Amino acid sequence: MNISLRKKIIFLVLSLLFIVTLAASVISTMEIQRYYKNRIVDQMIVQLDEVEYLLGTQVLGFHDSTRYNELARYADHSRHRLTLIDSTGIVLFDSHVTMDSLHFLENHLNRPEIQMALKSDIGQNQRKSATLNHTMFYAAKLYKNGGKQSAIRFIRLALPIEEIEAVLNTVRWKIMLGGGIALILIAVVSYLIASRLTYPIHQLSTVAEKIKAGNYDERFDVSGSDEIGELADLLNDMLDKLKYDLIRMKKLEEMRSQFLGNVSHELRTPIFSVQGYLETLMENPGAEQKKQQKFIKKAYRQAVRLNNLLTDLIDISRIESGEMKMTFNPFDVHDWLHKMVMDLKETAAEQSVFIKLANEKNEHVKVLGDRERLNQVILNLATNAIKYNKINGQVLLGYTVLRNKVEIYVSDTGRGIEKEHLTRIFERFYRVDKERSREVGGTGLGLAIVKHIIEAHDSTVYVESEIGVGSSFSFRLRKV
Ligand SMILES: Nc1ncnc2c1ncn2[C@@H]1O[C@H](COP(=O)(O)OP(=O)(O)OP(=O)(O)O)[C@@H](O)[C@H]1O
Ligand SMILES: [Mg+2]
Repeated sequence: MNISLRKKIIFLVLSLLFIVTLAASVISTMEIQRYYKNRIVDQMIVQLDEVEYLLGTQVLGFHDSTRYNELARYADHSRHRLTLIDSTGIVLFDSHVTMDSLHFLENHLNRPEIQMALKSDIGQNQRKSATLNHTMFYAAKLYKNGGKQSAIRFIRLALPIEEIEAVLNTVRWKIMLGGGIALILIAVVSYLIASRLTYPIHQLSTVAEKIKAGNYDERFDVSGSDEIGELADLLNDMLDKLKYDLIRMKKLEEMRSQFLGNVSHELRTPIFSVQGYLETLMENPGAEQKKQQKFIKKAYRQAVRLNNLLTDLIDISRIESGEMKMTFNPFDVHDWLHKMVMDLKETAAEQSVFIKLANEKNEHVKVLGDRERLNQVILNLATNAIKYNKINGQVLLGYTVLRNKVEIYVSDTGRGIEKEHLTRIFERFYRVDKERSREVGGTGLGLAIVKHIIEAHDSTVYVESEIGVGSSFSFRLRKV
């Protein structure tokens, strides 16, 4: 912001004020000028009447030099130039010219004011005087008082325009002075108002500056119910939300980097193993067949593990990013679990574990869910139940029909999980016994995937476990 808002407001107000004052001054000066001129003309006409009367009553005269000078003095006294003219335009008297010099004056018949007076009794004009060489205002009157002083046809009064101008100048000055004072007063007032008006905005920008510098606990402290107060409240609300989001984002960021660390750690182990086995094979080309086979098998197992890990990782990231869309369809629980048991029988037997469906007869209950994803859930839970079981242990898959839900469970007769681990086994990469889990090919992602899928079904995974007795994992699906 180059020019502050306050300066802009002040500038605007002052410009407006200047224009208004100027216009008002010009208009009022013109009006007053006209008014004064009219008044002067009126006064001159009164004066003309007076002169006419005085001439008529012969109080004033001009025929001998004494009376001529007396009349001149009378005119001087009233600050006018008085001229008496006969019907042919010859000047009979002029207060600014001596009696002897009268015959030097030119004929006045063609003077505009005289011509006007001839037509409409009264005439007026403003021009440069040929006789006196400066601008004068003239008013002439047709003299009708014929009887006495009969030679007079026109009475004319002249006033130097400077006199009129002087009066008007004073008026102009007064108006300008008034305008100037008003301008200063309003400038001061508008400065104060602008300061008051922009103060909260200034405050807002100060706080905003602090927030920009990373001080997220800063809040706008502008009270009042006007727009700026409302804006401050709005911004504060926004900041609260933003701060909350920021905390969440930081947490997510932390989780992400932790996840990335875990991933690289988990990937490194099998890759190093594969590398190690292959190196041993390369360095001992003459080793006996059986030994070579053993190493190749070991390398292969690590490769499989790597593949499983990547599949799980891709799954989890697809679920978490929301890329994996669930499609819910109703299906028969009994048939579904029965099929799962059949599929898992072989894997279980390999580990000397017996797996079976707990429900004997089909209750023909349907549930709503994404069967593909739920297969994955049962597979993960049952694989755990088999993996972490004991020789000749048992795994039970089953369901309980509730009022509008069906509870599905996977229970085992394994070694159980300690209380301290129970809440954490659903975290990514969390394993109770890292070595044992790795031995059986686990990465610690299985339960995290289970949790995500079940939550996408608006449900929760519960776990109950007793050391040495076994564990049971369960969740509920909507009955249809
Ligand atoms: N039925 C169970 N009995 C005992 N311990 C279990 C059982 N299920 C899970 N666990 C414990 O919880 C941990 C986390 O299980 P999870 O399925 O997430 O990972 P995993 O089995 O180690 O690896 P993955 O499933 O990714 O191959 C396991 O390492 C194991 O210690
Ligand atoms: Mg598992």
